[in-house]
Amino acid sequence: MNLQGLIFQKIEHRIIAGTVAFLAMMAIIGWIAINEPGRMASFEQQYLARSIERGAGLFASNCTECHGTDGRGIVGRAPGLNSPYLFGHDFYGAIDRETSNLEAELNNPNTTEERRTEIQTRLTELQTERAAIGQRLATVSTIPGYYDPESPSRLTNLAWGSTLYNFVYTTLVHGRPASSSYWGQPMAAWIQTGGGPLRPDEGQDIVNYILNWDKGEDWTVEDLLAVNQFPIRPVDPATVVSGDVETVGTDVAAIVAELPSFQGDPQNGMTLYQGALGCLGCHANAQIAPLTDGTWTRVQEVRLQDPAVQALLPEQTGEAYLAFSIVLPHDYLVPPYGPVMTATFGAQLTYQDLADLIAYLRSQDQPIQ
Ligand code: HEC
Ligand code: HEC
Repeated sequence: MNLQGLIFQKIEHRIIAGTVAFLAMMAIIGWIAINEPGRMASFEQQYLARSIERGAGLFASNCTECHGTDGRGIVGRAPGLNSPYLFGHDFYGAIDRETSNLEAELNNPNTTEERRTEIQTRLTELQTERAAIGQRLATVSTIPGYYDPESPSRLTNLAWGSTLYNFVYTTLVHGRPASSSYWGQPMAAWIQTGGGPLRPDEGQDIVNYILNWDKGEDWTVEDLLAVNQFPIRPVDPATVVSGDVETVGTDVAAIVAELPSFQGDPQNGMTLYQGALGCLGCHANAQIAPLTDGTWTRVQEVRLQDPAVQALLPEQTGEAYLAFSIVLPHDYLVPPYGPVMTATFGAQLTYQDLADLIAYLRSQDQPIQ
């Protein structure tokens, strides 16, 4: 008698054993299939975690010098990325959604009087809440760069049609060559495909790291106020330097002769200075550029008394000095600063813009600290 004969003496036993083995196999395969999505998800999660970890290292060695160790930006150097603005968090979002739903209910003729009274009470509450958030958000105006809580998404403001992932990755590939005209140092191309030093997978790791800062609905006003620098909205050359708009150029004597026919508006000058032209991005931190506070006093009491400055001006007035330092910033360097101020304002500003800027800077006449 052979061994098989011993174990499965009868053909029926063999059939049963075969069936049991088959069913057991199916059960195992089924179990694996059921668990596969979970297994894949945990695998992907581990993969993402490792990618984020590598990205953190690459960010620390390549990006913090301009974007700050915590990614919150450095005044005058580069905008914050670890910022509710980049992720498009709307601090009014929940309130505004509830408000418009309630208003729709009010417009519905079937809504009962009782419900209407309820809605009115809730709408008043919501208005108060919105105003309170607005008050807290108002302090954000002391941070240089552009941020408007009513228009809280960087990507929407740039009319970017794709995902945040693609936005960050594309910025890394190509850099922002034109940003040298409104930042001291431009954002360079970082990925090999765009001529930079990093491999594409390293770029993806960095993007995963940056996206890992997203807090979704949990961003707080404190997170926003912790940002050191917002992006600067460059002057769109198409709207400023068009054929029929005359820009001031860099001939200071000609500018000084022409300026008195323009009435400067200090309010508009302040808007240009703090917003579109990005002057405040540098002039808010004495480490980077002379402080805005006290500019006019310094001009009168220090610059105009300096023979080196006198020799460069067509006439010895504060207006002439300001015009000169805005259109030819590198011809005289205020000590101890280097030649980092944007040198292309002559080609961007109209006479009215320059008159407005000077009117604003004239109001900065606090005593020198
Ligand atoms: C030499 C300074 C410098 C370094 C280093 C630098 N950046 Fe930038 N980066 C900038 C400046 C300046 C801007 C703003 C450009 C603009 O306004 O168009 C910018 C913009 C960006 C933006 C777009 C932000 C926005 O809201 O438009 C991203 C994303 C970014 N940088 C990521 C990085 C990453 C990642 C690294 C490291 C691999 C890095 N940067 C290194 C200066 C730098
Ligand atoms: C990228 C940084 C940067 C930007 C942007 C910038 N500046 Fe400057 N600015 C400097 C630095 C640095 C100095 C000092 C060195 C020098 O004289 O060029 C300076 C000097 C000046 C001075 C002379 C101040 C003094 O105490 O004598 C004036 C005025 C001035 N800037 C106005 C402006 C205006 C107006 C704008 C915007 C239209 C502007 N700056 C944008 C960096 C900047």
